[in-house]
Amino acid sequence: MLLLTGATGLVGSALLRRLTTARTPVRCLVRDPRRLGPERVRVQIALGDLADPPSFRNAMRGVKTVVHLAAAIRDQPAGSIEELNGIATWRMVQAAERAGVERFVFVSALSATTHNRTRFLRAKALAEEAVAASSLEHVVLAPSLVYGQGDPYATLLGRAALLPVVPMSGRGRARFQPVWAEDLADCLAHVVAAGGGSARYEVAGPETLTHTELVRLLLRAAGRPRPVLHVPTPVVSRTLRALETIMKSKAPATWDEAELLEVSMTTPKGTSDAEALGVPPRRMAAVLGV
Ligand SMILES: NC(=O)c1ccc[n+]([C@@H]2O[C@H](COP(=O)([O-])OP(=O)(O)OC[C@H]3O[C@@H](n4cnc5c(N)ncnc54)[C@H](OP(=O)(O)O)[C@@H]3O)[C@@H](O)[C@H]2O)c1
Repeated sequence: MLLLTGATGLVGSALLRRLTTARTPVRCLVRDPRRLGPERVRVQIALGDLADPPSFRNAMRGVKTVVHLAAAIRDQPAGSIEELNGIATWRMVQAAERAGVERFVFVSALSATTHNRTRFLRAKALAEEAVAASSLEHVVLAPSLVYGQGDPYATLLGRAALLPVVPMSGRGRARFQPVWAEDLADCLAHVVAAGGGSARYEVAGPETLTHTELVRLLLRAAGRPRPVLHVPTPVVSRTLRALETIMKSKAPATWDEAELLEVSMTTPKGTSDAEALGVPPRRMAAVLGV
């Protein structure tokens, strides 16, 4: 039995399709099973929440491999970014060790370091440390920015493109090697199927784009090319913090999310780690058809 967290997300849903097609027995730890869509009848369901570590214990029963994708880039009512990404991963590793799990597969992120300026990437760094320090066989995948059908950032940009100019935070100089969610899911499916040995892979797409270039590409793909307006970071930060104070979890964007796009996520290894997993990652323009 394989336990998958984050199965309702961009990457998790792509991986789940591959696992059920391969007839791998899967249990999904989810907050709301309805969000699994048609796949929910093909899997076991464990109700759980990253903010509720006791829910991990039941989910782990009889599990040999955990694939931990669930993550949060904004605070939730039940837990902060640090609790949901850092502490929850540490607790999940502990629960896995106690339950006799053999293998722990974790998706971190490029640029996850304990001194990163963003709360999310610091929390991911601590999570990676917990995974690496465990007695379990562990595989960590650290992707650059991940994009795909219906991803929240592209959706938000699509809405912003209803305006004559699209505002973006800061100078847009951070650099990314965007990787398609389907390619990352292929890498994960390979890791699950291949088994054997602890390892860390940096998963990057074949091109390096600045944040501004990425936004222009996404706007072209949405059929709404617009001029981009660079808004000074302190203005964005104050505005989004105020919005979050007023709208709480309903805020359309938060400063923690916007700040992530000011941090470069690149690897000098390029596509070599993905290729080592049998996946030649596709170019973003080709995937988006622009
Ligand atoms: N997207 C990127 O650009 C990017 C870049 C680098 C690394 N990564 C990492 O790649 C992995 C997959 O990313 P993604 O883009 O697929 O994420 P995503 O689409 O944002 O999905 C997040 C998943 O986590 C679940 N989740 C959130 N809060 C939860 C909670 N409190 N309890 C239980 N589940 C919770 C969500 O479930 P609900 O349906 O219940 O909300 C969803 O299934 C994550 O670990 C992410 O940090 C992503």
